[in-house]
Order: sequence, then C-alpha cells, then structure tokens
Amino acid sequence: MQNATLHQLKVFEAVARHSSFTRAAEELFLTQPTVSMQVKQLSKTVGMPLFEQVGKKLFLTSAGKELYATCQDVFQRMTEFEIAIADLKGLKQGTLRLAVVTTAKYVIPRILGPFCQRYPGIDISLTVTNHQHVLDSLSSNRDDLYILSQLPDESDAKVYPFLENPLVVLAPCNHPLAKEKDIPLIRMAEEPFIMREPGSGTRKAVQKLFDQHGLPLKVKLDLGSNEAIKQAIAGGMGLSVLSKHTLALEGLNNQLIILDVEGFPIERYWYVVHPSGKQLSAIARAFFDYLLNEGKRVAEETSYQRLLEH
Ligand code: PGA
Repeated sequence: MQNATLHQLKVFEAVARHSSFTRAAEELFLTQPTVSMQVKQLSKTVGMPLFEQVGKKLFLTSAGKELYATCQDVFQRMTEFEIAIADLKGLKQGTLRLAVVTTAKYVIPRILGPFCQRYPGIDISLTVTNHQHVLDSLSSNRDDLYILSQLPDESDAKVYPFLENPLVVLAPCNHPLAKEKDIPLIRMAEEPFIMREPGSGTRKAVQKLFDQHGLPLKVKLDLGSNEAIKQAIAGGMGLSVLSKHTLALEGLNNQLIILDVEGFPIERYWYVVHPSGKQLSAIARAFFDYLLNEGKRVAEETSYQRLLEH
C-alpha cells in the first residue's frame, strides 16, 4: 500500500459510501473517468478488485470492505490529528465571520454544527443577506469568508464550488400546470410571477434565463424573503423561482409543487469566496478546508440531499 495516495483513498471512500462512481464524481467535483481511473489504480496497488458490479448495483468485494474499514480508521485518525494541530495553531478561541446569500442559510448552519463541535471554543458571526450585499462585504473585506451562488464580476477573488444549488419553479399544489410535463418556458410568461428583490442573485439568474429567450415576465410582486415568497405562492399570488434548498426543512408540505418547466432546474453552485490577497486566519482556513473537503458530505448526512431528491 506504500504506493496508494491519500487522494485515491478519498476517491475510493466516496465511491464506496455512495455505491456509485457518478455520485462520487459529483461530490468530489471530478469527472467520472477520473474517478474510475483512481479506483482502478488503487485496486492494482492492492492487487485485488475492490468493487463488483451485479446488475446495475455496485458492491464492495471482501478486499473492498477491508479497505473501506481501513479508510474510515485513517480518516478518523487524520481528523484527530487536525484537531491536535488546530490546538497548536491557536484554533481554541476566536471568531469566524461568514457572510452568506439568503439561500445558503438553509445549509450553512447545518454544516457549521459538526465544525463547531470539533472546535468548541470558536464563535461564529453569520450574516445572511442577498447577493449584492455579500458582494459589498467582500469588496470592503468585512468578513473572513463569503458564500455566493453567482461569481463576482471582478476576478480579484478566489472562488471554489462546494455544493449544487438548483433553482426550480414553484407553484401552489392546485395549479393547473401542476401535473403537466415539459411545460414550455414561454408558458411561464403568461403567469403572474413573484420575484426576489433587486440585488438578489436568484432574481438575476431568473432574469438572465428569460432575457436569453427574449421572454418578458409578468412580475406582480417583489419580495425580499424566500419564506415570504413561499407563503405568497401558497396563497395563490403567482409562481416563483427559488433554490430547491428553500424547501429543505419542511419539503413541499402539500402546499407547493415543483413545475416541470423547460430550462429548469437552473443548475448553479454555491461557492466559497475570499479576496485573492487575503491572509486567512487559522480559523477561517480550517473552516474553508472543512467546507471543501467535508461540506457536501455533511450536508447530505444532515438529510438535505435526501430530501431534495424527493
Ligand atoms: P440571493 O442569492 O439570496 O441574493 O437571491 C442566492 C443565490 O444567488 O442563489
């Protein structure tokens, strides 16, 4: 095993956990051939196959099961090591300042939970605001890290994707289009629409899609809150486009439905961002690494992804 790399073990662990090359590739932001290649090289190093395909399902072989258990031990020890180093680096106390766009509030607090357990002495200052305000904080260097779904225009920032953030069309359950499939985008132009306020990233993404197709939107109402928009949709005031994550806590709850509209979901990501010249504090660096390495898994484990798949 001297020739196996930590990266290969990470890739293998993700495939084993998901029982899927595709999902592991998504989680790690790698292509599927890259993931397959890493696993192939690892099984060559081990000298035995690690997975077997039975029908459409992927199973661990006996060697794969041994390696999976070993990976869990190795990663557990690594985490303990990181905590020990964190103590040495002065991660015992201090504040982590985060500014996140409104839709990220459905995910970031959950991701923060295990991080705070790992570093119990750290305090968090979490500002939840819209895209434009997060950009303002970024340019005035007010916080340690920023979470955005739309890349800042000026390139003087480092951006790293860590989780999908699809935008979907929401309607009340009793809407006439509720059961339709492949609804043409043009049909949306006939519906009253509820939009997020100017400055919102969600609004920008929706506007961009309709502009690209030369379609006007009948905006009946601007609202500065995702929760208020959900209430307005349920109350029959119109349709809207929101992040699928806004449904994560209570699901569709028999009040709202996701319409199957051409061009949707709008595929987007959340990015963690900092100014390129910024020296991250030890705490900010620790959270940054944690977000990129474990954020997606923690979000899934806290049931977001499972909920979102329904
Ligand atoms: P918003 O940003 O809260 O400004 O709409 C969210 C997003 O861009 O996804």
